[in-house]
Amino acid sequence: MTERTDADLIAAARKAREQALAPYSHFKVGAALLTASGEVFTGCNVESASYGLTICAERVAVFKAISEGAREFIKIAIVADTDQLTPPCGACRQVLWEFCGDVPVLLANLRGAVASCSMRDLYPRPFDQRYV
Ligand code: THU
Repeated sequence: MTERTDADLIAAARKAREQALAPYSHFKVGAALLTASGEVFTGCNVESASYGLTICAERVAVFKAISEGAREFIKIAIVADTDQLTPPCGACRQVLWEFCGDVPVLLANLRGAVASCSMRDLYPRPFDQRYV
């Protein structure tokens, strides 16, 4: 298995961001999700003319990975062009918690700033299958 460093994962998210389709907000985001077997699935945000159908980079990465059979995730990197590092939105926190659990979340921008937090910190009292 190829070892993936945090820098590799951030670089993958940054590259994915270049594919963002954000003609309405002009806010481009990239995400890269690392699996337990060392695979990386990336995503970018894709906006719809019907704004509410827009999907975030993080959920694209998660759903791409799930649809390819990946089930065990160990880390995600999220890149946006903001000085204050961009965290996942509420909908993405729900999806990341459900499918990835308490993984480390790397937040990065284009100028080399990086911060790490956990899903547990981002989403402290989650709704999940325990309640269903
Ligand atoms: N967006 C993401 O892709 N991920 C985030 O973490 C925050 C927001 C997208 C959704 C929309 O296309 C644009 O950024 C502005 O909200």
